[in-house]
Amino acid sequence: MSNDDHDPMTPEETPALETPFEWIGGEERVRALVQRFYDLMDLEPGYVQLRAVHAPVLDDARQKLFWFLCGWLGGPQHYTDRFGHPRLRARHLPFKIGVVERDQWLACMDQAMTETAVPLELHQSLNGSFFQTADWMRNQPDNPKSPTP
Ligand code: HEM
Repeated sequence: MSNDDHDPMTPEETPALETPFEWIGGEERVRALVQRFYDLMDLEPGYVQLRAVHAPVLDDARQKLFWFLCGWLGGPQHYTDRFGHPRLRARHLPFKIGVVERDQWLACMDQAMTETAVPLELHQSLNGSFFQTADWMRNQPDNPKSPTP
């Protein structure tokens, strides 16, 4: 079956999107992602250590992660407009973040991206970027002694 004919009229399918913020679908989709992320953190037994690091009420965290991600994805700089430079590592120092918390954060975000239908290519790319950021936030040793007797 020969199909070596290049069709110069094939339209370019990939739109010229400027930023991940536009690609994900703007503020409404970022908001949906963040809401699902914290809902899952509340609901899923697999994220219990991650949930335990957070305050009982997650409203403040929801608002701030939404503001932050809009800018981080190349959209409006809501977070820095309000708080200046994010200084994320410094802001996370009060919380115990080891491999377990990092991996639960990443798994929770991965599940939230799946459930809110983030486009697959963007989802995969963001998994890589989130890993870098979350790993940089770790402030506990790699191999803590097993907490179980
Ligand atoms: C690695 C595991 C992580 C843990 C355990 C963690 C935990 C937390 C906690 C406990 C808070 C305080 C929430 C509150 O105000 O009630 C917080 C705030 C925040 N986190 Fe994380 N986080 C993690 C990773 C990340 C990552 C990867 C990002 C960004 C991509 C991020 C972005 C933020 C932002 C923007 C805030 C608000 C900071 C502020 O202005 O106070 N976090 N995080």
